[in-house]
Amino acid sequence: MPQPTTTSSSSSRIPGFYRLSIAERRHLLRLLVDLSDEDLLALEQGGLDPTAADRVVENVVGVYALPLGLGLNFRVNGRDVLVPMAVEEPSVIAAASNAARMVREGGGFQADADDPVMTAQVELLGVSDLVGARARIEAAKDELLMLAGAALPRLLDRGGGPRGLEVRSSDNPARVIVHLHVDCRNAMGANMVNTAAESVAERLAELAGGRSGLRILTNLCDRRLIRVRARVPATALATRDFDGETVRDGIVGASRFAEDDSYRAATHNKGIMNGIDAVVIATGNDWRGVEAGAHAFAAQTGRYRPLAVWRVGDGGELEGSLEMPMPVGTVGGSVKAHGGARLAQRILGPAVTSASELAMIIGSAGLASNLAALRALCTDGIQRGHMALHGRWTKDAGVAPLPVLERGAAAAAVAADGRADSRQEVT
Ligand code: MEV
Repeated sequence: MPQPTTTSSSSSRIPGFYRLSIAERRHLLRLLVDLSDEDLLALEQGGLDPTAADRVVENVVGVYALPLGLGLNFRVNGRDVLVPMAVEEPSVIAAASNAARMVREGGGFQADADDPVMTAQVELLGVSDLVGARARIEAAKDELLMLAGAALPRLLDRGGGPRGLEVRSSDNPARVIVHLHVDCRNAMGANMVNTAAESVAERLAELAGGRSGLRILTNLCDRRLIRVRARVPATALATRDFDGETVRDGIVGASRFAEDDSYRAATHNKGIMNGIDAVVIATGNDWRGVEAGAHAFAAQTGRYRPLAVWRVGDGGELEGSLEMPMPVGTVGGSVKAHGGARLAQRILGPAVTSASELAMIIGSAGLASNLAALRALCTDGIQRGHMALHGRWTKDAGVAPLPVLERGAAAAAVAADGRADSRQEVT
C-alpha cells in the first residue's frame, strides 16, 4: 500500500491522498481518527438506513446518497482539521483542499464566532397604540425573558437561554414585530426559538393590545455571525503561466467585480456556498437555513453583496475575509439520527464539539472554495479543471466526457490532494 506522509498524526496535510484507493484512504483515516465500527459502516453505507430514515421524515421509500470526501490542508485558528465534505459537484473538494494549502502557507485560517444566538420573531397585529405597545413590552422585558426561559429548562441547564428582546418598527402601522434572542449553545436551535416565541406570544399580544400573528425564527440570524480571515503569500498563488502577484491582483479584481455587481456577487457567493454546504450537509445540519441566512445577509444593505472580499495586505500578501451567519449545531435530532453526521463529527475530532467551532470550520471551507474559484477564474478560467474532474464520472457512467485539454486533465488529477499549482482544479 502506498504510504502517504503526514507531518504528524494530527496533521490535515496528507500528500498523495488522492492517489490511494478508497480502502487505503479509509485505512489511513482510521490511523488518524478513532473510528468506531459504526463509523466504518457509515462510510460504506452512508450512515442512514431506510428504517432510520423512516423515523426522520415521512413517506420514506429509501435513502439518497452523496459522495463524502475529506477537505485536506485545513488549519483553523492554529489547529489542523480534516474537513468532511458531502457534495455532488466534481472538483469542489479538490479545489478547497488546494486553496487551504495556499492559506496554510500564510499560517492558516483565523476565525471567530458570535455566541450561538438565534432570533425568533413574534408578529403582533391590530395594535392601535404603537408607542404605548412598545413602552409596555419594553417595561415587561424581564418578565418576558423569564417566561421564554421557563419553556426551555434543558437549555438553561446547559448555560443557554433567552438573551434579549427588542421591539421593531414595521412598514405596516398596524403591525409590531418583537425579536426574541436565544443563546442555543451547541444546537442549531430552530425548535428552541420557535418554542420560546410561542411561549411569549400571548403575553406580548396582551401587552400590545393586539393579537399575535406569526411566531417563528428568522433565518437572517445576524446575531450569529462568523468571521474568517486568510492571508496568502503571493508566491503561493503562482500558477504555471502566471506569477503570484498577477494572480493576487486578479483575485482582488474579481472581488471588486462582485462588490460592484450583484449578478457577479450571486455567483461569487455560490462558489463560497460550494464549500459551506458540503460541510453543513456532511455534519447533518440544515443547509436550507444556512443558505437562506447567507443570502439574506448578503442583501441586508439593500444591495446583494459578496460574503467574502479580497485585498492586498501591507506586506503584499493576499488577504481575504468572510462574514456571514452560520446557524449550525453539533447536537440535535438530525445529528443524532444520522450515522454519517456522527461520523463527520469524529473526523472533525474531539476538539470540535461546540457549534461555534464547527461554524468557524465551515466558514473556512467557504473562504477556501471562494479563493480557489477566483484564482481559476482570473487565470485560465474554470472549465479545464472542472471538466477534467467532471469527465471522470461521465466516462465511468458510459457518457461521453466533454473535451478536456490535456494539461488541464493532468493538473486536475494532481489537484485532488491540493498540491497542484494550476488553476484548473476549481469549482
Ligand atoms: C461553480 O460551482 C462556482 C463558481 O461559479 C464560483 C465563481 O464564479 O466564483 C466557479
